[in-house]
Amino acid sequence: MTDWTTLYATRMQQVVASDIRERIKLLDAKQIIHLGGGLPDPAIFPYDALAAASQAIWADPVRARTALQYAPSEGHGPLRSWIAAHMTAQGTPCTVDNVMITNGSQQALDFIARLLLSPGDTAMVEIPSFIGALRAFDAYEPRYVGLPVDAAEWDAARLAGAKFCYVGPDFRNPTGTTMTRAEREKLLDLAEDTGMAVVEDGCYEALRYDGQAVPSLLSLAVERYGDIEPVPVLHTGTFSKTIAPSLRIGWIAGPAAVIRKLVLIKQAADLATSALNQMLLLDVVQTHLDNAVAAGCAAYRERRDSMLAALEEAMPAGVTWTRPEGGLYIWVELPEHMDATLFAQRALAEHSVSIIGGAAFFPAGAEKLPGRTNSLRLSFSMIGAEPAREGVRRLGLLAHEMVAEMA
Ligand SMILES: Cc1ncc(COP(=O)(O)O)c(C=O)c1O
Repeated sequence: MTDWTTLYATRMQQVVASDIRERIKLLDAKQIIHLGGGLPDPAIFPYDALAAASQAIWADPVRARTALQYAPSEGHGPLRSWIAAHMTAQGTPCTVDNVMITNGSQQALDFIARLLLSPGDTAMVEIPSFIGALRAFDAYEPRYVGLPVDAAEWDAARLAGAKFCYVGPDFRNPTGTTMTRAEREKLLDLAEDTGMAVVEDGCYEALRYDGQAVPSLLSLAVERYGDIEPVPVLHTGTFSKTIAPSLRIGWIAGPAAVIRKLVLIKQAADLATSALNQMLLLDVVQTHLDNAVAAGCAAYRERRDSMLAALEEAMPAGVTWTRPEGGLYIWVELPEHMDATLFAQRALAEHSVSIIGGAAFFPAGAEKLPGRTNSLRLSFSMIGAEPAREGVRRLGLLAHEMVAEMA
């Protein structure tokens, strides 16, 4: 019998199952209160607009043929143009040549790592970071260094020799925090001084509930260099959190020469993203994006507020949490010596509440960093005020219990 384990490539040694994808399998389990995963709420997907777009495509034989044919590897031209125009209107002047379509922004992150990382190269990441990015980068066998949370310590990062620095400046997954404009400018200084690239994950940028919008790193770089072509930034975007994730439409925006290289990777990986899905999405964003964003922001803002209020009510002294201005996540820090992995296990087994222990968001080699063992990610994306209060009340009980056990 074939022993497959002897056949796997060395890169698979770094690839492990994502705790979150494992938990998504639990979604159907009854009675569990899910405060872990960050799925967008299906109640706010634009079903009617998608149905109308679909009927319009089938009613037009020319469009129907295009929809079922292979799309160009760089993406459906009219969608790329729409994204370029949308980004230009939002303060990042660019053209269709600066945009390529990917199967979600997850594929964008994979391609960027494939383009830039040889085994042993250094990838700089915020710690904690989006788990899907870490898993995508892992396959290219990098050495990780952390971008310190405190920008005052970034000077040391000059010496890291990183190929790129990956950041999620708006309402980061998992912490919910936002990078200030001064920090963004400082990161661009760092890129300029060291020659590294900046990979900006814009997954949640449209989901701001309050506070002032901060310009994206890509837009600040275009302003700084006078044009998009010389910038050191690649920006990834997605419609997963504003329209629907199953369409799997994301994009990369950056200098045209780099986009052309990334298109070669797309050709080798899967030839092209579904033409049908790109055409459906284009019809929907042209008429419904503003409505969809407004509906998402209204629903998620309310849920964020009820989860923050529930934390205030339930948690013992010594537990702290972030207050995000957007996105889907709150990051909770338990007292320093409380084991968050054990906390998450007990929350599920004893209180039927599913949460994600913070360690999942730390790359290999960051085992000793502060916050790894005592932090949790909560998501308010799918949970109404009442179940959120009940779930957080149970977490509060557990925190009280574990504080008492530690005393
Ligand atoms: C920060 C971040 N980036 C990228 C993604 C990937 O999303 P998609 O591939 O659906 O665009 C996610 C998904 O949750 C995310 O949280």
